[in-house]
Order: sequence, then C-alpha cells, then structure tokens
Amino acid sequence: MNIQIHNFIEQYPNTLIVPVEKGSNYEKTIQQIATLSGIEASRLTNDFTAKAKEVHIFYTQNEGVSPKICLLGLGEKPAFAEVLRIFRSFAFRYKSKLPKDIGIYLLNNAHASNTIENWVDGAVNGLLLGLYDIGLYKTKEKTTCALQGQDAQLDIFVDGQAFTKAQMAVENGRATAETQARILDLVNAPHNKMTASMLANWAMKSGKTYGFETTVLGGAEIELLGMGAMLAVNRGSEEAPAFIIMEYKGGNSDSPRVGLVGKGITYDTGGLSIKTRNMHYMKSDMGGAAAVLGTMELTAKLQLPIHLIGIVPATDNCVDAKSIKPGDVVSSFSGKTIEIIDTDAEGRLVLADGVAYMNKVFRPDIMIDLATLTGSVVQALGYEAGGLFTNNNDLSAQLQAAGDDSGERLWQLPLWKSYFSDMQSDIADIKNYSGKPTSGAITAAKFIEFFTNEHPAWAHLDIAGVAFGGSEFAKDKSGTAYGVRLLTTFLKKVSIA
Ligand code: BES
Ligand code: ZN
Ligand code: ZN
Repeated sequence: MNIQIHNFIEQYPNTLIVPVEKGSNYEKTIQQIATLSGIEASRLTNDFTAKAKEVHIFYTQNEGVSPKICLLGLGEKPAFAEVLRIFRSFAFRYKSKLPKDIGIYLLNNAHASNTIENWVDGAVNGLLLGLYDIGLYKTKEKTTCALQGQDAQLDIFVDGQAFTKAQMAVENGRATAETQARILDLVNAPHNKMTASMLANWAMKSGKTYGFETTVLGGAEIELLGMGAMLAVNRGSEEAPAFIIMEYKGGNSDSPRVGLVGKGITYDTGGLSIKTRNMHYMKSDMGGAAAVLGTMELTAKLQLPIHLIGIVPATDNCVDAKSIKPGDVVSSFSGKTIEIIDTDAEGRLVLADGVAYMNKVFRPDIMIDLATLTGSVVQALGYEAGGLFTNNNDLSAQLQAAGDDSGERLWQLPLWKSYFSDMQSDIADIKNYSGKPTSGAITAAKFIEFFTNEHPAWAHLDIAGVAFGGSEFAKDKSGTAYGVRLLTTFLKKVSIA
C-alpha cells in the first residue's frame, strides 16, 4: 500500500474516513464535513455522536468530492491506544467494503486532544493491522480486499505545519504494524508449525532482512556451556532446543546497551506435572520470545540509536520417560542448583539460564525479561496489564510510562525480600515452586531475580494475561503482539535520555 501525506486536498479519494472525537472539536469537524459534502450539519449530528467505534457512512454527489464518507467515532479524549484500537477494529469490520483508494481527513485541528503524530501513527498502525487474517492454515482460497492490492493508496490529509511529523509517524505506524502481524503469526502458530528450530530460523531470516546478527546455539553447545536448567526442560522433548542470541548495534559507543530475554516455550504441556485444562492455549507460551523477536526486528528496521541484545531460550516442555521429575535437582549456567518441585514451572528455568548468560556475556546497562510465566499474574491483573517486577524505581517509571503511552500497560507488584523464603530448598540452592497457592507471580519473579547477579537495572514482565487474548481476529483467544510497541516506545525514550 502506498501511503502519502498531503496538506491540502487536491484530489479526493474514493472513500474519505473522518475520525471524530466527542467534545470540543466535534461540532467544528461536523461543520467542515457538512460544507464539504453539502449535507446539513444537523442531519449529521442527529445520526452520529462520535461514540467510540461508532461508524456512519453516507454518500455525496458534490462534484469532485469523495462519493463515500465514513465518520468514525473516537469517543472522548482518545489516547493513542484508543485511536489505534478503533482504526484496527474499523479496518477489520469494513475491509471488504473499502476501495483501493481511501483517505483519512485530519485537517484543521480535527486532532484536538492528541498530537498529530499519535493520530497518524495510530491510524496507520490500526488500519494496517486490521487487515490481518488469522486463517493461516485454511485451505479455502483467501478473499483479499482491495486495500491489500499492490496499487492500493492511502492519502492522509493534515495541516501544513504537521507535514514532516506526520510523515515520520506514517513510517513508524507502518513498520510497527508489519512486524506486529508477523509476530501474531508466530504466536498463533501451533507447536507443530513452530518448534524451537523454526523460531531460530525466523530470527536468522529477520536479522538478515533488517540488519541484526543472529547466533543460534544447539543442544551440544547448550550442554557444553552448562545450561542445565534449559536442558532440564528440553529432556522430555523430541525437538532440539535452541538458544537464540541476537545483537543489533545502533547508535554509538555512548548509546545504552539493553538486553531483552524472552521465554521461548514453544509448547507447555506442564511436563510430568501435566496440565489438566486449556492445554491448547499453551502454543502461546513463547509470547515473551515473540515480544523480544518483534522488538529486535522493529528496532533494526527503525534504526533506533541503541545497542540491543535479544536472547530467546527456546524449547517445548513435554512428557517422556526422560522428562525431569518433580524432586530432581538440576544445575544451571550460573552454577546454582535448582530443586524441581513442579515441572510446569519451566519458564523460570529457561529464563534462569537466559538472564545469567545475558548478564555474564553482554553486561547490559538495562536487562528486561518477558514471559508468559504464571497463571497467578492473570488472577491478580486479569487481561488489562502485564505484571512489572523491578527494584529500580527509574526503570519502573520509564516502563510504566511506555506502557501508558503505547496502551500495552504494566502494573508493578512487589519484590520484597520476605517472599524469597518460600523459594528456599532444603537440598539445593533454590526450588522452582513455593508449593503455596498464594503470590505465585511474585515468587516466580524472586526465582528469576536469584539468577540476575543483583543486576541494578533488571525488570521482569509477566505477560501471561496479555500476550494471548480476545481480539476481533478470532472467536477464541489469539496472539496480541503485546510488548513490541511497549518496548520500542521504551527504547526510543532511553536512547535519548
Ligand atoms: N505457561 C504457564 C503460565 C501461563 C498460565 C501462561 C496461563 C498463560 C496462561 C507456566 O509455565 C505455568 O504453567 N505456570 C504455573 C506455575 C506453577 C506450577 C508454579 C502456573 O502458573 O500455574
Ligand atoms: Zn508451565
Ligand atoms: Zn509455561
């Protein structure tokens, strides 16, 4: 799709989309559309109040003006995330009806309660992502819509002074949407279509295309390095493990060095502590890895001035005679020993080796791990926010701000010392499960913290509730690409701090 910014309307597109927010700007925008279309303003205000997601479509016969006009309600004071969500849902619902040339009308302060960058970025990101099709494995030929064609054209009309900012926002919105769609494919793919080595291949290919280095360690190297925790999870698997290391060197030698570690469990049966319900959702247990892969790709694509390292320890967690058994003691890359109480607490095992390796080999200024780690965080925060764990107040504030700005929210939970006592083992250095039905997300975070070597700027994000959920794309749960926008928003801020 060709996207162009204009600061006046030379030629009207076939369909003109007019986002309208409730409140002070409503009447002004309606008045402009009334003048342009020749339809009385009172008729428009009767039928359209600009409620969030409200759509009012009408035809005009005014010479030279778009024959079809879509008023799109944004509700009151829409934040960036609202604009994105509403455009995404609009594109998804109306994609079959949209022609190959459309326009978005943002002239004359129609964008009153938000910045023009946010309006354009949200609209482009939302519109493009709304064209996503989840039916990856359907045999019936896909019905593509006109907007997906090579010759599709999107014209965005903004005020003159906003021109340059709007152009940059288009690039950000488009680049983000394209990577998010690729990440949705990764998370929506079932295990037989997305094993650890397939994830590694994805990373290699993405690195080649967008400009970051990828190294993949296989089983023998993982063993040689002494990553006993990672190997313990892989013991019950038919598939080889992959320890994926990615490095993007943007900026200069002063640019901050950020390390991201993502839980890459391509399928979680629970192991011998087997899951009894909703196991099919566990194809999404690589949601943390997907966030890291997507952030690597998008950071390289946008050429952000930052040194970014991504690590994904990838394997499935399966059942076999060779599987680790509750009660076993395993070693780890850090040298610390772990008593396995529950084989379903496997994510923290692969992360233990992931964060220890990241810390030792790359010494990042900031280290963040992301994981679909516990049902407990879903109990606490539901599907509204990821759980944030850190002892660094600045990092906490920066991550929460990025969460609010991107709409991929975070909420902090405590990491007090006293929680650690639940993780003490009688026979090893630590155990992988407290055995208690309380504060499971926190004790999991305490477990990972034990392997960070007291890194002063480490944060753990438990994204079990937000990586996979309800969306317009599917009847059941599906991927959300949570983390990609959150982390790139965060990285843009720290790179200039
Ligand atoms: N992958 C799960 C966590 C999960 C639960 C993700 C729901 C997405 C939705 C994780 O490996 C797990 O099984 N956690 C256990 C830990 C327990 C055994 C200590 C849990 O949360 O029940
Ligand atoms: Zn598990
Ligand atoms: Zn898991």
